[in-house]
Amino acid sequence: MTQNVLEVIGVTKAFGGLKALDDINLSVKRGTVHSIVGPNGSGKTTLFNVITGFSQPTAGKVIFKAIDLKGKKPSSITAMGMARTFQNVLLFRQMTALENVMVARHTKLRAKPYNAVIRPKWVMEEEELNRARCTELLELCGLGARAKELARNLPYGEQKRLEIARALATEPELLLLDEPAAGTPAGEIDGLLELIQKIKALGITVLLIEHKMDMVMAVSDTVSVLSFGHKIAEGTPAEVSSNPEVIEAYLGRKWLDAET
Ligand SMILES: Nc1ncnc2c1ncn2[C@@H]1O[C@H](COP(=O)(O)OP(=O)(O)OP(=O)(O)O)[C@@H](O)[C@H]1O
Ligand SMILES: [Mg+2]
Repeated sequence: MTQNVLEVIGVTKAFGGLKALDDINLSVKRGTVHSIVGPNGSGKTTLFNVITGFSQPTAGKVIFKAIDLKGKKPSSITAMGMARTFQNVLLFRQMTALENVMVARHTKLRAKPYNAVIRPKWVMEEEELNRARCTELLELCGLGARAKELARNLPYGEQKRLEIARALATEPELLLLDEPAAGTPAGEIDGLLELIQKIKALGITVLLIEHKMDMVMAVSDTVSVLSFGHKIAEGTPAEVSSNPEVIEAYLGRKWLDAET
């Protein structure tokens, strides 16, 4: 088993004349929380899209568990053990919280679509086990009491956690979270931080995009900083937060924004 679960090698992504990512290299160590920070438009979500197969790089490659992901579809990459959440929540809004998580686990089940009608005992048993596992995941994400609530009725912060539960249902080795704290009330940030720590304790590697710097500093083993599609710094939270170029490109501006 290699030490790095993910290697991004020389990745460039161009949209017309704009290089949203310019020769990005990134190594994500297994079992760590690795954060990607940077100003709006610096290429963070584009990087997630390239890693997860939602878009193909213009140049460079992505290696997951020593396998080149070139040409692979998002669904096959998920099946290999990579899951993500989206910057803008994507849930089945008319389904309950529990149903959203159960649907995500269908690839882990033996039952076929016709087993919705033809239901031998093993199908019923498998469904019960699936329900129990998904209920556990809702509990892990602090949504145990919300199982029967329609996704669209949940407050935004809970919808973001439901997305995490759904991503966990695919049993990932690498979980990518795109701004999980966005729209989360201040009082729920600590809970989210604890959730990420629990996910790490389960042995799942976490790649995290987040603007809430207190949370990034508290939870990350490694932080990479993007600016205009370039990686301008990388290191421990302490190293990165004292780097003059990072303060100039990102943190200084954030602090100014916070004052205005
Ligand atoms: N599909 C696309 N077509 C054209 N330009 C795009 C596309 N997706 C992203 N971009 C551009 O690429 C750049 C990087 O965008 P990206 O969404 O990756 O930034 P980000 O770091 O995630 O920003 P934020 O913090 O606001 O979420 C931006 O200039 C954006 O406008
Ligand atoms: Mg983004």
